[in-house]
Amino acid sequence: AKIPATVIVIFGAAGDLTWRKLMPALYNLYLGKRMPDRFMMLGVAHTDISLDDFQRHLREGIDQFSRSGKAKPDDWDDFKKHLSYQKGDFNDDATYTGLKQQIDKIEKDWGEPVNRVYYMAVPPAFFESIAVRVGKNGLCKNKQLARIVVEKPFGHDIESARHLNNLLHELFDESQIYRIDHYLGKETVQNILAFRFANAMFEPIWNRNYIDHVQITVAEQIGIENRGNYYETAGALRDMIQNHLLQLLCLVAMEPTASFKADEIRNKKVDVLNALRKITPEQVHEYAVRGQYGEGWVEGKHVKGYRQEQDVSKTSNVDTFAAVKFFIDNWRWQDVPFYLRSGKRMAETISVITIQFKQVPHRSFPVESTENWQPNKLVLNIQPHMGIQLRFQAKIPGVKMLLNPVDMVFDYVDSYPAGSPEAYETLLLDIFEGDTTLFMRSDQVEAAWNVLMPILDTWQANTSPNFPNYAAGTYGPEDAEALIAKDGHNWMVIP
Ligand code: BG6
Repeated sequence: AKIPATVIVIFGAAGDLTWRKLMPALYNLYLGKRMPDRFMMLGVAHTDISLDDFQRHLREGIDQFSRSGKAKPDDWDDFKKHLSYQKGDFNDDATYTGLKQQIDKIEKDWGEPVNRVYYMAVPPAFFESIAVRVGKNGLCKNKQLARIVVEKPFGHDIESARHLNNLLHELFDESQIYRIDHYLGKETVQNILAFRFANAMFEPIWNRNYIDHVQITVAEQIGIENRGNYYETAGALRDMIQNHLLQLLCLVAMEPTASFKADEIRNKKVDVLNALRKITPEQVHEYAVRGQYGEGWVEGKHVKGYRQEQDVSKTSNVDTFAAVKFFIDNWRWQDVPFYLRSGKRMAETISVITIQFKQVPHRSFPVESTENWQPNKLVLNIQPHMGIQLRFQAKIPGVKMLLNPVDMVFDYVDSYPAGSPEAYETLLLDIFEGDTTLFMRSDQVEAAWNVLMPILDTWQANTSPNFPNYAAGTYGPEDAEALIAKDGHNWMVIP
């Protein structure tokens, strides 16, 4: 269906997210002829910058970060006609009345109803102020036409998330609210549902009878870059586990849906979050491990410890690594552990989900043939490798019966050399089209906070005496190894 004419208001237009992610994504949608026939992007920020300089700055971002490479002059000249800038204070009503005038004028000039997308690409401290002012200045009067996009972090804990949800619900219907978790827009993440529910052979064994445990690793080599101010209020548990990793867990664990309707999928996901076993404060040390990096070596380069980073306290108690063991209390998953870990300044940058199956019930081969025996594993490679591997035993060619694990591999690069859209392209297009499937509903966000609160509270109340407890360039603290080793397993990153 044709996408209606759209005005995209970007609050925080001079910021990093707009520069690195949003503009390159919008530009690629434009190159792919996916933008609405009529669209206008209105950037708003408090930076004093001319329209020319604003456009130049965005072009540099596109040149650096766009998957299609440097912008070609003709394309860019056309694209930039859709880009305007308004300097404005997010806390000042005048900013919003100015915007309203602009949008009303566009609507009049185009002679058709215009969709309004309000994108909050700003620090969370501004969410409330912007949402309220968009509401009270009549920018979202027509509910059919207005949408608001909220970046993460959505809240700082369960209370603040609830508060923000209540506030948004006073101004918008849930169907107008797009809470971003950009992992859901990743091609390989969307493919989890295709893999599970568009194939007959995996789902029958996708349960506690065949699966031993599940591991989800999202490791990054980067540190906190220049985000010390934000990261000091967040930490790995809030920054990654609460959203990205728990969403991956939901996709692996959810029940099949009858259709692909947004709310049906979101219902099944929230069922998983609600079934996560709530741990008590006394159990936190058994189920969760935190870490903070000290100095070390990453890719041959010496890097600072977290406490030496800019805008970070010398005695910071913030976690840059978190590992948690979850159980899902339902019929499908009872007693199957889900181990999640994520950290900064890790040895590799890799996101991977490993599903380990149970051992065979009986080994009928001679002992010497089974030395390298491994349980079957299904590896969902999210990034940077994109693909799926299935590991199973095969006979080593030769006169003896010797076994070795081998892989069956689906690799995106081989099968789809043309490449995949960036997550933000998919998500922005969904917003224009009004599809909320890949966005977080209010109850999902709250359920995810809810299950983490005992850990967050316990960590907050007790400073960690041994920070920093892992060297940059490693896979996190020893305690994280112990967390999984006590159940007889190891963390795996297979590719
Ligand atoms: C963001 C986090 O949500 O995700 C960052 O705030 C993190 O700390 C980033 O680096 C990782 O995203 P990606 O797409 O690079 O894996």
